[in-house]
Amino acid sequence: MHKLIDHPCVQHKLAIIRDVETGHKRFRELATEITKFLCYEALQNIPTKDITVTTPVGEAKARKIATDLVVVPILRAGVGMLDGILELVPTARVGFVGLFRDEATKQPMTYYERFPPQIKGGTCFVVDPMVATGGSTVAALDLLKTNGADNIVVICIVTCPEGLARVNEAHPDVAVYTAAIDERLDERKYIVPGLGDAGDRLFGTP
Ligand code: PRP
Ligand code: URA
Repeated sequence: MHKLIDHPCVQHKLAIIRDVETGHKRFRELATEITKFLCYEALQNIPTKDITVTTPVGEAKARKIATDLVVVPILRAGVGMLDGILELVPTARVGFVGLFRDEATKQPMTYYERFPPQIKGGTCFVVDPMVATGGSTVAALDLLKTNGADNIVVICIVTCPEGLARVNEAHPDVAVYTAAIDERLDERKYIVPGLGDAGDRLFGTP
């Protein structure tokens, strides 16, 4: 399952973040701003519990979030989405998956994993700006599930049909929230038109 967030504010920011002329400072700001909109949507279905609050003038029926929240950025580019989601849910815990795509094989290589125990029973949000072949996302979801997570949502900025199909095939229970579903992958397995190498653009590496 996937959900395309076609909100004008998101699409406006997406147009700027895609632009090759956008430098790393602005790119980082936009990644945070877009992430906030995407996460706002993705948080829509988290469990809540009914409570009663005593206000200065009476009793109000209210709702509070009733799940542990765990954000899992895929290193390195996923870190560019961390501030955005933590601004919405500042008490969320953070786990990390270190993956990079081997440039020759295009296969994800795992170099780090560290999760809070709340991935079991809580709601996990895997964040990575790009789901291209989907290999990195699937590897992160495999790791999380092996460690006991069973309620996971993926949030990315740009994806493509191939990446979505791969994630959906391997993990049909996981919803993917995205600002764009682009046309295709090129021969280097980059998303076209995409936004280039998200990690390099976020962190100013060549
Ligand atoms: C990028 C991106 C994803 C992955 C997407 O990371 O941030 O993690 O590639 O490609 P895939 O869907 O084909 O697996 P990269 O491997 O370039 O590492 P980085 O975050 O360290 O730049
Ligand atoms: N990783 C990126 O950063 N961009 C792509 O288009 C594909 C993989």
